[in-house]
Amino acid sequence: TSTVHDTNCVQTPLFQGENFFSCSTQINKPVVTAKRPFRGKVTGGKCYVWCACGHSKKPPFCDGAHRTQAPSISPPHFTPEKDSTLMLCPCKQTKNVPYCDGTHFKAFMFSHCP
Ligand code: FES
Repeated sequence: TSTVHDTNCVQTPLFQGENFFSCSTQINKPVVTAKRPFRGKVTGGKCYVWCACGHSKKPPFCDGAHRTQAPSISPPHFTPEKDSTLMLCPCKQTKNVPYCDGTHFKAFMFSHCP
């Protein structure tokens, strides 16, 4: 669940019951949704839409929340070639969208509001 605290900061709890938050100082910047990559099976030839904003209620996939929460962000589509298990980026900082490249380690360490 994301909470708009003011016009300059969006906070998202990383885990229920914990006090770690992802914070973006600009409302159209992506927020961190988890501190570990999403590991899951995908079907070859099927089109998926990866959540690039961090506001989806169905991570790691887009549920349309970016339209109101981060309208400048467009989610990328991807189609796996074959049935496989993927590690998808949770922190929205990967250089290899939509796959995890390990950047979440750094993103989590700095994922608190100033
Ligand atoms: S809900 Fe995050 S990109 Fe669509």
